[in-house]
Amino acid sequence: MDERFIINGGKTLNGEIYVDTSKNAFLPILAATILCDGLIILKDFVALSDIFCMCDILKILGIEIKLNGKELQIDTTNCHNGKITHEFTSRVRASIFTLGPLLARFRNAVIAYPGGCKIGARPIDIHIKAFKTLGVKIIERHGYLYCNADNLKSGEVVLDFPSVGATESLMMCACLLNGQTILKNVAKEPEIVDLQNFLNSMGAKVRGAGSDCITICGVKKLHGGYYQIMPDRIVAGTYLLAVATCGGDVTIHKAIQAHNESLISFLKQTACVLNINNDKIRVKAKKRLISIDKIQTFPYPFFPTDLQPQMMVLQSVSKGVSLIQENLFENRFGLVSELGKMGADIVVKDRTALVKGVEKLYGADVQASDLRAGASLVIAGIKAEGYTTIHNIEYIDRGYERIEEKYNLLGADIKRIKIE
Ligand code: UD1
Repeated sequence: MDERFIINGGKTLNGEIYVDTSKNAFLPILAATILCDGLIILKDFVALSDIFCMCDILKILGIEIKLNGKELQIDTTNCHNGKITHEFTSRVRASIFTLGPLLARFRNAVIAYPGGCKIGARPIDIHIKAFKTLGVKIIERHGYLYCNADNLKSGEVVLDFPSVGATESLMMCACLLNGQTILKNVAKEPEIVDLQNFLNSMGAKVRGAGSDCITICGVKKLHGGYYQIMPDRIVAGTYLLAVATCGGDVTIHKAIQAHNESLISFLKQTACVLNINNDKIRVKAKKRLISIDKIQTFPYPFFPTDLQPQMMVLQSVSKGVSLIQENLFENRFGLVSELGKMGADIVVKDRTALVKGVEKLYGADVQASDLRAGASLVIAGIKAEGYTTIHNIEYIDRGYERIEEKYNLLGADIKRIKIE
């Protein structure tokens, strides 16, 4: 069944909204439950297709999962090893997170290459090189990794690039190794701090997350327990950019300032008004905003690639010219052709987009090419004059829970249509 959004645009956004639990923190934490022995309860479940896919992978390993209201109950008592086939890994890139925990717990793993959003080549060479440094033997054959970890030992690993996924995989793996593992040049994203907090609350000894060096002292086993995962900083940033683009006055709850400093400092240059109080951000945008001269994506704490497309929509209707440079993923301008259909003036050369702000966008028939591009088209549709139809909205459901209902509560007019 095909689903689409039909958006009756030209609306401003007003009211209050709550940010859901972070998808990018939830996914590695689900993989980390493979390391635990017992019952793990994760609070504030968020119904995203990527999370359901990851749960399906855990079930192959004998892990029992039940949703009780907003609590996800994960029972790892009967967890065993298993082959993770292409059928599962093609659905979610985060499937690769299971590799580290499987190697630590069972000393052996067979897993197909990961899939996920088509925003670039997305190799896993950094993961593979790091595991080999710790003694894992890996044979790559017919789209699968055959891994033997009989000689897996704690040690020191320096990553060639601070990959988020590789940092998380290694942290998880090192938790059950004898001795101390030191990881250098690691990613500093808040989701990595959250993973450290989860692991430690289950009995691990990890320190340093949030800096570029993480130290893990191995323990014999991890136990079960309760955990509250952090709110989604990319969803919070998406809402901030939606209000800045469409205009209005919205208070965003569970939006943590420290997680979005780079976005907040950009927004302060645009003449929108921000009031920040604990984990609450009120954003007011009453008129057309001013363009930001240059925006570049870099690993945290700099401006995130996952907010670049939403930022592009804001720049496309701001006063002035903006240069957007995408440094993380080579295929992250999938939005440009679709925004062009809506009247935006954007020229792309290699990894740089020159965005000349226009007075208005107009409704059109457009395709979501990936998760964040899809979420950005929703913002463009709310802003645009007339009706916008967005196809391929299954991409949006990977990372935003019923996004149309959330925006409709703020005054948008979005319908989800099922086509048989
Ligand atoms: C995570 C996020 C994703 C975000 C990205 C960058 C999750 C589930 N996903 O993805 O939303 O866009 O961080 O902030 O947390 N690379 C290699 N070889 C590797 C690994 C990565 O070349 O082995 C490259 C990638 O192609 C990319 C860059 O490194 O150009 C960053 O990737 P990485 O930090 O690993 O992103 P993910 O963990 O896949």
